[in-house]
Amino acid sequence: MISKAPRWRALDGSPWEPGGDEVAIAALLDLVEEAAPDVAAHMERTARLARLVALEARLSDPLHRQVIRTARLHDVGKLAIPPWVREKPGPLSDTERRIMRSHPVTGQSILERKPGLAGLGVLVRATHERWDGTGYPDRLKGSSIPIPSRIVSVCDAFDAMTKPRPYSPSMTIDASLGELDRCAGAQFDPGIVQVFCELFQNRFDRLAVGA
Ligand SMILES: [Fe+2]
Repeated sequence: MISKAPRWRALDGSPWEPGGDEVAIAALLDLVEEAAPDVAAHMERTARLARLVALEARLSDPLHRQVIRTARLHDVGKLAIPPWVREKPGPLSDTERRIMRSHPVTGQSILERKPGLAGLGVLVRATHERWDGTGYPDRLKGSSIPIPSRIVSVCDAFDAMTKPRPYSPSMTIDASLGELDRCAGAQFDPGIVQVFCELFQNRFDRLAVGA
C-alpha cells in the first residue's frame, strides 16, 4: 500500500508539495540525502537557522525564499567531492583543501543545469565569499556579495562550530557566537552577525524566563 503521508516538510513542519522549479530542488535534496546524509542534515540545520534570521530581519517574501533555498542547497556541490576528502577525519592537505574549495562552483554548475535554478546557482557560488574580499571563488567584497549568500555564510559557520567533527569537539553556543562576533567585518557581514547574535540572545532570555 502506498503511503499518502507527505514526503517533504517545510522548515516550519508543514507539508511541502513541491511545484514548478521546486520539483528540481526536491529531486536534488533526495539525491544528497541518499549519497551524503551528513551533508543533507547540515544543509537542513543551516536552513533552519537561515529561516530564523530571515524572519528576524523581516526580509521580503522573495528574498526570504531565496535565503531558504540557498541554505538548503548551499553544499550540493559536495556530492562531487570524493568521500575520502569530504569525510576525512583530520586536517586537509593543500591539495585536499583545493578539492574541497571547488564545491561552491560545482554546486552552481549542478544548479544551472536545472530549469529555473540558474539564479540559485549564483547565490550558492557566493556562500564562501568573505566580507573583506578574501573569500572564494571570486573574491567578492562587502555588499557585492548577495544577501542570501551572506546570511548562509554566517549560519553555515555557526552550524559547523556547534556540531562535533571527527577531529575536534564542538564549541559551545556562547563560544560560537563569540567567534562570529570576532569575525564580523572580516569574514562576515557585521549587520547579519548582529541579527544572528541578538536572535540567540532573545531566545535564551525567553527560555530563561520560561516564555
Ligand atoms: Fe555548509
